[in-house]
Amino acid sequence: MPSITGPEGPDVHGPGARPHVLLSVAMSLDGYIDDAAPATLVLSDAEDLDRVDGVRAGVDAVLVGAGTVRADDPRLLVRSASRRRERTERGRSPSPLRVVLTAGGDLDPSASLFGTGTGISGRVVYAARPAVSGLRARLGDSAEVVDAGDPPGLPGVLADLAARGVARLLVEGGGAVHSAFLAAGAVDEIHAVVAPFLVGDGQAPRFVRPGTFPQDAGHPMTLAETRAIGDRVLLRYRIGDPDRRLLTLACDLAERCPPSDSAFSAGAVVVGEDGEVLATGHSRAGSPLDHAVEVALSALRRGDPRLAGATLYSTLEPCRTRASRPVACARHILDAGLSRVVTARRGPATVDGRAAAALEDAGVQVVEIPDLAPLARRPNAHLLR
Ligand SMILES: NC(=O)c1ccc[n+]([C@@H]2O[C@H](COP(=O)([O-])OP(=O)(O)OC[C@H]3O[C@@H](n4cnc5c(N)ncnc54)[C@H](OP(=O)(O)O)[C@@H]3O)[C@@H](O)[C@H]2O)c1
Ligand SMILES: [Zn+2]
Repeated sequence: MPSITGPEGPDVHGPGARPHVLLSVAMSLDGYIDDAAPATLVLSDAEDLDRVDGVRAGVDAVLVGAGTVRADDPRLLVRSASRRRERTERGRSPSPLRVVLTAGGDLDPSASLFGTGTGISGRVVYAARPAVSGLRARLGDSAEVVDAGDPPGLPGVLADLAARGVARLLVEGGGAVHSAFLAAGAVDEIHAVVAPFLVGDGQAPRFVRPGTFPQDAGHPMTLAETRAIGDRVLLRYRIGDPDRRLLTLACDLAERCPPSDSAFSAGAVVVGEDGEVLATGHSRAGSPLDHAVEVALSALRRGDPRLAGATLYSTLEPCRTRASRPVACARHILDAGLSRVVTARRGPATVDGRAAAALEDAGVQVVEIPDLAPLARRPNAHLLR
């Protein structure tokens, strides 16, 4: 019987390990995520639903609270056949794992989420201990019910998801769950769509409930993108210190690499001393031989004065030697005059694991952010198995 016993796999999941968390919400201009009427208020249009579908297709698991299952009866599947096919081509299930949080266990086995259909994926329900046996009896084979403790705690749920190989988690609501993730400081990115109307009903649920959020105390949100979607606006904020945010951006780029059965997928970002992104790159951007770091650095003029104080964010440790081209990425970094490199973890995905040491010997500061290693390895999972 599954229950949360703690993270496993010392290499990838240290204590407190958790997936990279994207929180997605659609709200009215006055901050409501629904109205107070029983029927669900539609806040997204077709174009925005398609955008969300694309985000869903890019994650390993989608999580909602039991309140959303009861109110909206979502299926939480990837709708687009081409996106499901692309996931399969990359060795993933057609749709992400579907995850529900419940304390009391009030979930209807006939909910759409537990039904069958195209693009079926696994389902996990994290429940408070007293609700577990009843829920297992009701849901049978349609979901794995995991004892999340009493009271259930988010850190245990997140560590369990990480141990299941979930590197990217999309949290789709509702208000209680959004509030819990934000209060726990367990959100890395917010995708908020604002719809051009007012709900104006104090009884309706809001994006977040009153509370204290660590963002108030030194974890600022940084605007990553604004995008008009018809009359709606998408606001994308990243949360965390600058090194984490920028290495996460490099991880996003790595996900765009054309698939390969033999070559690693990496992302690279060059950032000036003032925080300006100077160049980006990913593996195989222009040719099947391209490495992310060389793509990013080739976009900058040799001798560009901004390079001396710049930092390179590279998802994987840069290569020190390579067979495919005469100049390895470590050499490009030194020739560019960069003073600092931030990477998730040295090796194992490098031709020669000593590139970081060689850079340090040459006076380049190398910083590792090991808890981002699962995110950096995600596009390479098929090569590292
Ligand atoms: N516009 C949007 O983007 C959007 C997205 C999703 C939902 N919504 C709206 O949001 C509303 C639902 O929001 P909601 O706040 O009522 O519900 P919710 O956040 O979806 O779910 C709340 C429930 O989740 C469970 N839960 C929460 N935190 C937990 C934890 N740490 N551990 C274990 N279980 C936990 C509890 O389940 P039990 O009650 O079963 O114990 C809790 O009652 C609906 O009106 C829906 O339409 C809007
Ligand atoms: Zn290289």
